[in-house]
Amino acid sequence: MGQGLLAPSFQRIDGALWCEGVPLQQLAESAGTPAYVYSSSSIRGQFARLSGALAAIPHRVHYAVKANGNLAILALLRSLGCDVDVVSGGELHRAFAAGFQADRTIFGGVGKTSAELAYALRNGVHVLSVESADELDIIDRLAGDLGVRARVGLRVNPEVTVESTHDYIKTGQKGDKFGIPVDQALTVATRAATLPNVALVAIGMHIGSQLTDLAAYGDGLVRLEELIVAVRSLGVSSLEYLDVGGGLFVPYADEDPADLERYVALIRPVVERTRLTLVVEPGRFLVAEAGVLVTRVLYRKRSGGRTLLVTDAGMNDLIRPSHYQAYHRIEAVDGIATRATFDVVGPICESGDFLAIGRELEDVSSGALLCVFTAGAYGYCMSSNYNARPRPAELMVDGDRWAVVSMRETCEDLVRLETATPTWRNG
Ligand SMILES: Cc1ncc(COP(=O)(O)O)c(C=O)c1O
Repeated sequence: MGQGLLAPSFQRIDGALWCEGVPLQQLAESAGTPAYVYSSSSIRGQFARLSGALAAIPHRVHYAVKANGNLAILALLRSLGCDVDVVSGGELHRAFAAGFQADRTIFGGVGKTSAELAYALRNGVHVLSVESADELDIIDRLAGDLGVRARVGLRVNPEVTVESTHDYIKTGQKGDKFGIPVDQALTVATRAATLPNVALVAIGMHIGSQLTDLAAYGDGLVRLEELIVAVRSLGVSSLEYLDVGGGLFVPYADEDPADLERYVALIRPVVERTRLTLVVEPGRFLVAEAGVLVTRVLYRKRSGGRTLLVTDAGMNDLIRPSHYQAYHRIEAVDGIATRATFDVVGPICESGDFLAIGRELEDVSSGALLCVFTAGAYGYCMSSNYNARPRPAELMVDGDRWAVVSMRETCEDLVRLETATPTWRNG
């Protein structure tokens, strides 16, 4: 996947772009634009690729729901044998709504509220990933109140050098807000071992997303292994999992995909020496290439010597270009031989609202359909209603059939939770 100009799930037939067995033009005409379109075969392929690479190691794949929490995607992954990693009560609710049993869930996140923790404990999540000493104490108290034993993991910040495509998605460096700093981890683990209502079952890390250098996994694992040895030397025998988080690189242009062989070669010796089950938490890797955003060019115009395409998708629909300066390949749905250079901008009232700047693509006119590739991860789930824009529809394709898997929002949805006539209360 991801090699060559087009992911195999998206291809040109007689010049027009198709997703699997369905023309994107037909989807745009039936469901309108902007619309996210997801290829089931791409998701199946990525899951098979990762599972195949890990086959020789005892492991569990916990999909990071934050990358794309659409229920149909979750249900597809569940049917493949994938488990989930969630970071909020809302994501846990999504996982349950998609049919996941609690014993297939890991609940992480740096700022879980007591209400979220209690919800997770009542439902018996498989592992609660703890990110601070304070949180550990609250979990112990809540578990005691509920009469359950919390299965906790420690998310450690190994404080290694992380190479990624953007600083905002590095999470395992010194001073980052995530995890328990490695020099405090043994103290917190020791405390976990003494608390009556918790069992320490996992040690893990998540050092960042879109990692451009796998070496950071190796560096982090050195620190985790030292910690595991130290924890066991205290007599703790409850450890079951070594969790290396997500972060696998996905090509957005013509870069090489993540080297899974090297990834496994870095991890495998540590798994074998520690005799733990490996947990991986891929998000982007499983769904990024499966998704495209189909948008229509509303207007073509010239300004300051530049040619602009104003599309009906904006930064509220796909924020990655403006938030992370992320590159997304863009092609016309109907191939045209001639090419030109454009700023592809959205309808939002902000100059930071763009999908691409100075991009060469087909020489399209108003009314043309554009396909924004590699939009399956951190696309729809980061969308907003800014400028009071209803969120787009999400469609799933499977072979030559397709379905709406989340309806386009309406203007009525935008005001559904609000009132123009407040019911005032006394303070
Ligand atoms: C704890 C945790 N696990 C997994 C992931 C998924 O990362 P990715 O989408 O890069 O695989 C994230 C993403 O931020 C995360 O915070």
